[in-house]
Amino acid sequence: MSYVIEATETQVAAKPSARPQFSITPLTAHIGAQIDGLDLRFTLTQSQTAAIRAALLKWKVIFFRNQYLSHEQHVAFSRQFGQLTVGHPVFGYVEGHPEIYSVGRNRKANRFDGQRLVRPWTGWHTDVTAAVNPPFASILRGVTIPPYSGDTQWTNLVAAYRGLSPTLRAFVDTLFGEHRFAPPEGAQAKTAFERDVSKRPLVSHHPLVRVHPESGERALYVSPSFLKHVVGLAPRESEQLLQLLFEHVIRPEYTVRFKWEPGSIAFWDNRSTAHLPPVDIFDTTFDRQLYRTTLVGDIPVGPDGTSSEAIEGDPVLAHRAD
Ligand SMILES: [Fe+2]
Repeated sequence: MSYVIEATETQVAAKPSARPQFSITPLTAHIGAQIDGLDLRFTLTQSQTAAIRAALLKWKVIFFRNQYLSHEQHVAFSRQFGQLTVGHPVFGYVEGHPEIYSVGRNRKANRFDGQRLVRPWTGWHTDVTAAVNPPFASILRGVTIPPYSGDTQWTNLVAAYRGLSPTLRAFVDTLFGEHRFAPPEGAQAKTAFERDVSKRPLVSHHPLVRVHPESGERALYVSPSFLKHVVGLAPRESEQLLQLLFEHVIRPEYTVRFKWEPGSIAFWDNRSTAHLPPVDIFDTTFDRQLYRTTLVGDIPVGPDGTSSEAIEGDPVLAHRAD
C-alpha cells in the first residue's frame, strides 16, 4: 500500500501542477520504502527532494525501480542531496568518474594510483565507519543483475536501539567503540587488498549510540565488520557485549531484503542503518555490476554530546573537481 506525506496510508507527493505525482510504498514495519513515479534523470523540484529526504529519514533506505542512469546522471541525482565524496577513500573510483565507486562481482574495476584492486566482500557493516565522519548516505545503482541471488539487506539501527531494555540502553549510551579499517596490529599484509589497506589505515572512536543529527533519534551505532572493541572494557567483556549487540541489530524484524533489477537504485541513510552485501555472490557464476556514490557526512555525536574522535587517518571530504 502506498501513502501520502500528509496522510497516513495512501499517499502521493509532488507539485500537482508541475510534475506527475509519485508514491511511497513502505516495504516492512520498520525499514524500507519504494518510491515510484519519478524520473531521476531529471532535476527534481524542491518539494520532491524534500519528500525523498523525509522518506529517507523515516524509512532509512528507499528504493527506486527502472531508473537507467548514466554515471553523470547518477552523480547529478546524488548532488541534490549533499556533497559527494571521492568514490572510495581507500579503493579509488571508476576511471574518469571520480565520484563513482564500482561494486562489481570481483571489484576489479576501481583504480587507485593506477593500481587495479580486488576487494573481498564484507559482512554486515555501515559504510566507512572507520573514518571520523562516515558518509551520510550511499546511493547504489544496479546495472548488471543476476536473474536470482545477489540480494542486499539493510537493518534499522534506531529500531534496534529501541528494542533493547531500558537498562542496557542506559549502559550502551555511555560507551564508545573503536572502528578500524586496517590489518590487525602486528599482522603482515599478505594480499594486494591488505597492502592497500595498510597504506591508508583508518581508525576512529565513535559513540555506540549515535544521536541522529536531523531526527534526534538514537541509533545503535554498531558496524559489525569495522567495530573491533568497546573502549574501556576488558577484551572478554567487549567481545561478549559486541556479540550480543551484533546479533541483536540483525534480527529479522529490523531488516529489509532487496531484490535488485537492472535500473534499481537503493539510497540509504548511513547514520541509522547497517547493510549486508550479498552472501551468495560466489555461489553462482552470474555477473553483477553496481555503482555507488556517497555523500559527505558529519562527525557522530553521542547522547551526552561527546563527538567521535579520529585515531588514525583523515576525514572523508568532498571530492573537488579541479
Ligand atoms: Fe557497504
